[in-house]
Amino acid sequence: MLSWDEFDREESPTPVVKPKLESQAQPEVSVAPTPPPVTARQGTYQSSVDAADESNNANALQQAIVDLRELDIESGLEELEGTANRVAVDDKRMINCRADLNQLVPFKYDWAWQKYLDGCANHWMPQEINMNADIALWKNPNGLTDDERLIVKRNLGFFSTADSLVANNLVLAIYRLVTNPECRQYILRQAFEEAIHTHAYQYCIESLAMDEGEIFNMYHEVPSVAKKASWGLKFTQALSDPTFKTGSLEADQELLKNLIAFYCCLEGIFFYCGFTQILSMGRRNKMTGTSEQFQYILRDESMHLNFGIDMINQIKLENPQLWNDNMKEQATQMILQATQLEIEYARDTMPRGVLGMNAAMMEEYLQFIANRRLVQIGLPEQFKGVSNPFPWMSEIMDLRKEKNFFETRVIEYQTGGALSWE
Ligand SMILES: [Fe+2]
Ligand SMILES: [Fe+2]
Repeated sequence: MLSWDEFDREESPTPVVKPKLESQAQPEVSVAPTPPPVTARQGTYQSSVDAADESNNANALQQAIVDLRELDIESGLEELEGTANRVAVDDKRMINCRADLNQLVPFKYDWAWQKYLDGCANHWMPQEINMNADIALWKNPNGLTDDERLIVKRNLGFFSTADSLVANNLVLAIYRLVTNPECRQYILRQAFEEAIHTHAYQYCIESLAMDEGEIFNMYHEVPSVAKKASWGLKFTQALSDPTFKTGSLEADQELLKNLIAFYCCLEGIFFYCGFTQILSMGRRNKMTGTSEQFQYILRDESMHLNFGIDMINQIKLENPQLWNDNMKEQATQMILQATQLEIEYARDTMPRGVLGMNAAMMEEYLQFIANRRLVQIGLPEQFKGVSNPFPWMSEIMDLRKEKNFFETRVIEYQTGGALSWE
């Protein structure tokens, strides 16, 4: 690790290869007086800089001063999104906004700003979680059954790339199309949390000395994983074309479909079989470190899901023409498809009963979850008479009730008590 002592240590300078600047030709504009050369540090270092370098530095600085004198401020600001006027609350819109997007205040979407604050108050890092018990259990040939090992590997395989798909969708597809700074602020926070989640999965994979190539490439090689990934990817592809613009009925509905695909389906359905399986393992005192990582991630994901649902409903409110019968039918179909893919994933990862659950129970749970997602965006339930076979999953999302759930450590972090869950 670097220390300040090392930083301050005098070193003999290494020769710096300077790029040849056009400015090194003498400028025709005369600039007086000539400013002194700028050096990184006074003393020994400066004394060893040769005269040619000094001359080059002086020329470069002169050119910078000339260029700044000629800077056209107006044309620079024209490049910014929106107008240059002060923003009023009524100017703000979720999509197709014409107001300046660089002015965070005045707030209009308080729910988005509050989620940004809540997300920041619940910051965590994967290295804080002790993985020693998991490493011992994973290495012990009798530590886990083959079915339990399959669940650990499949879920690390799915999630290690799924969170990258979500992060890429945020920054490459939807960020520029969501036109209010409060939501963008949360999207940036969410993007960082997705990076932490990918880090957490990598940390588990590395700790358990798994074959990294096998795990990270599972979304190409294992059909039940690949189907979920490719289902989500096609919605990113529709929007990541740099020429894609919102403003028409079709384009705005395409954006809405992307939000439903990623927030309601990927984060709201595709994650739930895996979360339930790994957290069930933790409840049985197995792979407790991995379970704890997943528990932190689930807490973040619950907020991502709630943010996405708020965003979808706010866009519907501001643009009621988008939510026509055709769009409702497509949204329902997307949630049904995602549920079916997750049921296939459950069957693939649980060929037999394991950890007190089986694929049939998971199917009912996923139908229960699908009903909730439908209702959350204003659509009718599709699965009649289903109930939640895993009520402990609802409890686990409320960490305030379960301070020592795995009896490993107090898992509340910073001001987690300020959170409220769906
Ligand atoms: Fe995530
Ligand atoms: Fe997420």
